[in-house]
Amino acid sequence: MHILVLNGPNLNLLGLREPEHYGTQTYADLVNLLEAEAEKCGITIECKQSNHEGTLVDLIQEAYGKADGIIINPAAYTHTSVALLDAVKAVQIPTIEVHLTDPDTREDFRHVSYIRKGCIQTICGKGFQGYIEAMHAMIAYINNR
Ligand code: DQA
Repeated sequence: MHILVLNGPNLNLLGLREPEHYGTQTYADLVNLLEAEAEKCGITIECKQSNHEGTLVDLIQEAYGKADGIIINPAAYTHTSVALLDAVKAVQIPTIEVHLTDPDTREDFRHVSYIRKGCIQTICGKGFQGYIEAMHAMIAYINNR
């Protein structure tokens, strides 16, 4: 089983970026955590981060025929991007939306998620642990199909 983990804009600055919201651990810490968990679970993962909407669309398209599942934190593009929703719908790869914080409890403009309509599940407000939960949920979903 192979899972693509995608992170959107500014998540490369984890550790530096608004630690009161996003904590002090870095993007590299997140990747290390997820790679270790994937190995424990006996699956392979690929972690990618981009600040560019079109690059994220390209990465979703390139996953077609390669990834069994996608875990995505689209970051700010969550609240603006129809293109990311269309991409996950186009490739029909089961997708789980993850957010470190709970956007529904923050500013009003964060309350809309376009990609959510194309996702089998959303996990919010659990920090790095949310990605681990998403990995377990994706493995269970794929195994039960
Ligand atoms: C985020 C929440 C978004 O509203 C924000 O733009 C981010 C991070 C989160 O992980 O909590 O960049 O997706």
